[in-house]
Amino acid sequence: MLGGMGKGLPLGEEKKEIGMGKAEYRARLHYQDGEVVEGYEAKRFSGLSGWLRTRMEKRAVSKALDYLEDGSLILDLPCGTGRFATLLSAHRMQMVQADISWQMIQFASRHKCTSTGGFRFFVRCEAEALPFREGAFEGVLCFRFIPHLPPDLRLKVLRELARVSGEAVIVDYRFKYAFRYLSRWIRHRLGLVRSLRPRLSLSQIRSELLQAGLSPVRWIPVAWLFSEKVVVLCRKEGGAPGRR
Ligand SMILES: C[S@@+](CC[C@H](N)C(=O)[O-])C[C@H]1O[C@@H](n2cnc3c(N)ncnc32)[C@H](O)[C@@H]1O
Repeated sequence: MLGGMGKGLPLGEEKKEIGMGKAEYRARLHYQDGEVVEGYEAKRFSGLSGWLRTRMEKRAVSKALDYLEDGSLILDLPCGTGRFATLLSAHRMQMVQADISWQMIQFASRHKCTSTGGFRFFVRCEAEALPFREGAFEGVLCFRFIPHLPPDLRLKVLRELARVSGEAVIVDYRFKYAFRYLSRWIRHRLGLVRSLRPRLSLSQIRSELLQAGLSPVRWIPVAWLFSEKVVVLCRKEGGAPGRR
């Protein structure tokens, strides 16, 4: 744990890989490898397509952040390489950046953030059991994580996000309404590809979020029809995003 907040992992445990032997999904261990971490941004966000992807993703997240008040305390989980620090800072948010991967946290802490002087803190922890009290944050940003999880764990993690947020949760999903899914579906029907990666409908996403105690209030597609990603701004039941 860098800094100290709540009951993070004990000091001395920092460099151990956590979750060894009980990984139900690849992302849990995959990003605890130094080489993967060093190559993370170059692999996904370099070149023209990477630049465009980053721009569109950040624009969608930015639209969701517009609903939160200046100075809100946000949990960025998992923070990965800290890609959203500058955006959160530009929105004048205070932030706690958390991840299961010590290597990611180290990388994120080196990430230049044109901070407006706000609070920025790092915690190593597991999304399945967050070391924060109920309603500790005004909002939680959870990007590029939920789609990695199997359905039962998705619900568990979403409930944790809802628990620690007092008001809003911003999360991304992969949905069906994109040319990419349509083309794969057609090829699958023609027998040209064996498996069809599961993509959810809006009603399936809504139902999952409601089960976790989150009501979707804004659906923000990253790029209508061209991207399978949709950013969803959710209100915690009893919370109130949308005060701007
Ligand atoms: C695809 S990256 C996304 C990072 C960042 N949100 C972004 O958009 O670049 C997935 C991240 O999830 C983290 N992760 C995987 N399992 C986790 C868990 N159980 N709890 C917290 N973080 C986890 C990984 O270490 C990795 O940094």
